[in-house]
Amino acid sequence: MIPVNTPLLGGNELKYLTECIETGWISSEGPFIQRFENEMANYVSRKYGIAVSNGSAALDIAIKALGIGKGDEVILPTFTIISPAQSIVTAGAIPVLVDSDLNTWNMDVTQIESKITNKTKAILVVHIYGLPVDMDPVIELCKKYNLFLIEDAAEMHGQTYKGKKCGSFGDISTFSFYPNKHITTGEGGMIMTNNDELAERCKKLRNLAFEPKGRRFVHEEIGWNYRMTNLQAALGCAQLENIDNHIKIKREIGKVYQDGLNNLDGFQFPLIKTDYADNIYWVFGLIAESQEKCENMVLKLSTEKIGTRPFFWCMHEQPIFQKMGLFKNEIYPNAEKMSRNGFYLPSGLGIDFQQIDKITKFMYE
Ligand SMILES: Cc1ncc(COP(=O)(O)O)c(C=O)c1O
Repeated sequence: MIPVNTPLLGGNELKYLTECIETGWISSEGPFIQRFENEMANYVSRKYGIAVSNGSAALDIAIKALGIGKGDEVILPTFTIISPAQSIVTAGAIPVLVDSDLNTWNMDVTQIESKITNKTKAILVVHIYGLPVDMDPVIELCKKYNLFLIEDAAEMHGQTYKGKKCGSFGDISTFSFYPNKHITTGEGGMIMTNNDELAERCKKLRNLAFEPKGRRFVHEEIGWNYRMTNLQAALGCAQLENIDNHIKIKREIGKVYQDGLNNLDGFQFPLIKTDYADNIYWVFGLIAESQEKCENMVLKLSTEKIGTRPFFWCMHEQPIFQKMGLFKNEIYPNAEKMSRNGFYLPSGLGIDFQQIDKITKFMYE
């Protein structure tokens, strides 16, 4: 079996976890939390990092901290994991979708302006699979229409846009540290911002909205328990020490796949680079020329016990959103093609390069 993801825990993970056990610091009050937040903020060039329990929780808090709520519209790509759309909907706001760019697989930023109305409060960009969204046009639109910019950088640790770290753009950005990410805490996430007030709001919201100065257990509003544990942060600190190496390995994985699959007909591979970024290959995805070709290849790989994952399923085609009456009759052809014909290959940091060799050879058979 070659799993679709294998994490790499090759540094100080055990040492730091042992420290947690030996000192008894296992909750969110432990010292690794602040250390991880500071080190991550420093790495991304942000003033604040607020550690939370996962990347989806980070988005819930980001939306609420910005005051986005009932009737507000937020523009985002239809091709994404459900987390950002779910955060918008549960806040009572309305997700407004744009199609994807078939070259970069990210949201087509030229389609955003036509979706802006007087209810639009924010643009939520989601960097997909390894290349960042083209940020300059988005930043310009946010300035022109006075909109918040939210950056979902869950898949983009260490990636840069025109030399600036992903996660450093806009009012607020979020990361996930699920084990398939460039750095992991098992489960985990982080919100990043430069804004003092927003940082305070986020800290309060992740902690059941306890009033920082009021009497304990007296609440003025509803929050969540989205705290990260010291154990998770300990893992995060160890992982962050090796992030450059992790990025290097991911890019090597990408290169070996690109070279190995170069002559495979009927599939589109990720762009190696754009004029603003080199691919960081969060995962190595492919888009088949037809749905049938995609399904056949996935089936063939599974008979050889090679793990794959289908691409995200578009937000406008999600049964839950259709049941809620959202996105009626909306069509996004590029994103639909990606979700039907796309899948990704084993591309976790712990993969053995001989396994990649085996996979690529097998795909020609
Ligand atoms: C773009 C994006 N946003 C958000 C998330 C959610 O993160 P988590 O699984 O930590 O909740 C993911 C997860 O992979 C993601 O890829």
